[in-house]
Amino acid sequence: MSERQKIVLLTGASRGIGHATVVKFNAGGWRVLTVSREPFDPRCPWEAGPNNHIQLDLADLDAVQAAIPKILEKTDGHLDALINNAGISPKLAGGGKPSCFDLSYADWLRVFNVNFFAGLVLAQGLRDALVASKGSIINIGSIAGSRVHPFASAAYATSKAALSALTRELASDLGPTGVRVNAVAPGEIETSILSAGTAELVEREVPMRRMGKAKEVADLLYFLCSPDATYITGSEIQINGGQTV
Ligand SMILES: NC(=O)c1ccc[n+]([C@@H]2O[C@H](COP(=O)([O-])OP(=O)(O)OC[C@H]3O[C@@H](n4cnc5c(N)ncnc54)[C@H](OP(=O)(O)O)[C@@H]3O)[C@@H](O)[C@H]2O)c1
Repeated sequence: MSERQKIVLLTGASRGIGHATVVKFNAGGWRVLTVSREPFDPRCPWEAGPNNHIQLDLADLDAVQAAIPKILEKTDGHLDALINNAGISPKLAGGGKPSCFDLSYADWLRVFNVNFFAGLVLAQGLRDALVASKGSIINIGSIAGSRVHPFASAAYATSKAALSALTRELASDLGPTGVRVNAVAPGEIETSILSAGTAELVEREVPMRRMGKAKEVADLLYFLCSPDATYITGSEIQINGGQTV
C-alpha cells in the first residue's frame, strides 16, 4: 500500500519565509495548502496550485472560521502540519517604530487578529485532523516577542509574546494526543518585512554579521515537521545568527 502524501497548511505563503517554505515542503514531497489574501499566482509552477490555495484575509476572523470546512474538505480529514506564518508589522508613516501610544485599539486588534488569533482559530478548527495524523503545529514568533526591538512596534512584539505563551499552552493541551506544538523565533531574515536600518543593526548586534535567509528558516520548519523531531514539543527555537547571545 502506498504511503499517504503528507499535507501542510501554511499561512503567509505568498512571499518571504512562507514562499521559501512552500518550495522546501514541495521538494520534500508534501502537499502544501497555501493561505494568503491574494488569489493563486499563475506564475507559480506547482501543478495542483490553484486547488491547493485558500484565499483568505486572516484579519477577518469570521472568514477564517468560515474557511475551516473548506480546508477540511481539501485535507480529507488528515493534516500533518499547520504552520502559522503570516504576520504583519505596522510602521509609522516615515517607516519608524510605533510605540504603545502611536496605534489605535483598532490597529492593535488587526495586528493581534493576523499574528495571534488567526492561528488560534485555525488550531481549534483543525485539531481533529491534526490529531488523526499525529501532526504538528508551528507558530512563527519573533525575536521581538522576548525583547524590545528598535524597529518592531509594541503591538507586534506583544502579539508575538502572546504567540509564545499560546505555543506552550497548545503543547500542553495536545501533548497526550501526539500532536507536537513548537514556535520558531527569527531574528533579522531578508524579506520585505524588514525596516530600513536593519543592515546597520546586523553589523552591531549579530555575531554572524549577516541577515538570515528565508530558506534557512524553511529548513528549520521542515526539520520540526519531520520524523527527526518527534520528541520536540513546547519549544521556541531562536534562529538569529546569535543575536540573543
Ligand atoms: N523577516 C524577518 O526578519 C522576521 C523576523 C521575525 C519574525 N518574522 C515573522 O515571520 C513571518 C513571515 O514573515 P516574512 O518576513 O516572510 O514577511 P513578509 O515577507 O511580509 O510576508 C508576510 C506574509 O503574510 C501574509 N499576510 C499578511 N497579512 C495577511 C492577512 N491579513 N491575511 C493573510 N495573509 C497575510 C502575506 O501575504 P499577502 O500579503 O499576499 O496576503 C505574506 O505572505 C511573520 O510572522 C513575521 O512576523 C519575520
